[in-house]
Amino acid sequence: MSSPFSVQHNVDLTTQNTMRLSCMANSVVKIHDQAGVEPAIAHAKTISNIKEMPLFVLSGGSNVLLPSRLHACVVMPEMTGIDVVSESDEHIDIAVMAGENWHDLVVKTVQKGWYGLENLALIPGKVGASPMQNIGAYGVELADFLTSVRAYHLPTDTWHTLMKAECKFAYRDSIFKRQASEWLITQVNFRLHKDPTRTVMNYGDVQTKASDIAQQHHRQAPTPIDVMNAIINIRSTKLPNPEVLPNCGSFFKNPVIPTSQFKDLQRKFADIKGYPVDEELVNNSTKVAGGWLIDQAGLKGQGIEPIMTHVNQALVLVNHAPASQPATQADILATQDLIIDTVFDKFGIMLEREPVWVR
Ligand code: EPU
Repeated sequence: MSSPFSVQHNVDLTTQNTMRLSCMANSVVKIHDQAGVEPAIAHAKTISNIKEMPLFVLSGGSNVLLPSRLHACVVMPEMTGIDVVSESDEHIDIAVMAGENWHDLVVKTVQKGWYGLENLALIPGKVGASPMQNIGAYGVELADFLTSVRAYHLPTDTWHTLMKAECKFAYRDSIFKRQASEWLITQVNFRLHKDPTRTVMNYGDVQTKASDIAQQHHRQAPTPIDVMNAIINIRSTKLPNPEVLPNCGSFFKNPVIPTSQFKDLQRKFADIKGYPVDEELVNNSTKVAGGWLIDQAGLKGQGIEPIMTHVNQALVLVNHAPASQPATQADILATQDLIIDTVFDKFGIMLEREPVWVR
């Protein structure tokens, strides 16, 4: 039987993070199957005690900004598998292992007639990382279909099943993000539905694109497959493919400001884009389109080489550095600060970084 985990030292993680930042890690422990979790963590803790360095969990690397030297014992959950837990005429409950690729899961489920995740197509990364920032796009977020998360709590060596409410999901936030490196997410559980007429198309041009696709197939109304293909189409034209142009998705959160401040700004900038926020704790607040702010501040496609804002979506930073001279966190900081300062000077709004900054 092959080992349930493997260990390597002095590992180059430059190609393991979608921003392609140069990074060497002291040690990496890869977990290949569920049975390997406890022995792998015990081994990783031995290394981290001897070498006096923390444990750091790295998944798909699509939402992290890594340092040149990662003085840590990196734990990578790579176990895969999708299990049906229970099924009725209306719903299906599935358990998905952390190492599954997110987009592949979306395609597989939608093709099987298990719906809900279609609006989250083409988001880079792995299933285990998806609860961290409560991934969301085009009117749907992970929390809409997640039921619970199975995770190993590293400081106490205990297993937990966190029900959705315990995950404390909010916009690009969760307990796992707030307590980064405490939790090793091993499995994410979902309840998907089987109603092909139930779709979410109220964001931007999703409805138009999905209807075009439905028409091409002589369907009266878009199915979840049509919605998924519309999202794939929209994302491919607007967002850079990290395989081709390294990036980690939206670099800033869309800022949430008091609605009174938004109204003041509207008087000065009639086109400013904002949406009311209905989450309980943030009443009378407006979420402003950060991409619009950066764009209007004259920074679309701009920055300090090699880190620039994307030409089609200013909220995304892309890395132009050649493989022979990889970019570092210092390069990120230069462009990040330029953007934060310029946007603050023009609009009085402080942008907040979205991906996790690793020290
Ligand atoms: N806009 C501009 N200029 C730009 C970018 C955007 O004027 O350069 C305007 C757009 O015209 C639009 C508004 O800003 O009116 C919002 O833009 P968009 O629909 O592209 O969405 P977003 O708010 O910038 C968010 C998520 C994305 C997600 C999309 C679609 C965050 C931080 N980002 O972007 O998520 O795909 O909505 O739901 O909430 C990610 O998190 O990595 C990500 C890509």
